Amino acid sequence: MNNDQCYHELYEWVESLFTNQPPDHDIYHICRVVKYSVEIAETVDCDTELVKFSALLHDITDHKLFACGSTNIKTMRKILSKHNVPQNFAHQVQYIITNTSYSKQKVEPAEPSTELKIVRDADRLDAIGAVGIARAFSYGALKQRPFYHPTDHTSTVHHFYDKLLLLKDGFYTKKAGELAEERHNFLETYLQHFENETNYGIILKNIQQRE
Ligand SMILES: [Fe+2]
Repeated sequence: MNNDQCYHELYEWVESLFTNQPPDHDIYHICRVVKYSVEIAETVDCDTELVKFSALLHDITDHKLFACGSTNIKTMRKILSKHNVPQNFAHQVQYIITNTSYSKQKVEPAEPSTELKIVRDADRLDAIGAVGIARAFSYGALKQRPFYHPTDHTSTVHHFYDKLLLLKDGFYTKKAGELAEERHNFLETYLQHFENETNYGIILKNIQQRE
């Protein structure tokens, strides 16, 4: 197994897959998740190569992006076996990428592996802070959702309350928890400014209720 050559070929394939994806899930999101994953992996006892490969591939089965995730899994397995990647490694990559998502976490029966925890943490870090805000509004625009309206609960600002503000306490690793703190505080600061400009009222009420 030549890790570098294999990773390079996988990267080129992933880049081609994500070329036409919107900014909330483009190749730059993938690259940020790889970067955060490697940073976290360096602070924990784990298989760093497994973390790096899995982070690169973590969104190839996302049903919001791809009609048939299993086709992408087949291509991934083909590239991995072409480079003589051990079956167990390929199997673990597949386990991680099919279990990274927020919805999977809510229903999983067993304790996730350390490497899965790291990729999850990295993916969630990219959902908060300045980049997370940009991604949330990008996705909202794609779905033609309003920024905010008191009675429209599909709005992007409602998504902050339904998901983004709740992520802070769910990080597995110490490093991710530390990185998340400033990003979370920025979400709250942003919402405060949003309220100051609009005087919708309900936003601050929600923050106070949460505390
Ligand atoms: Fe992701």
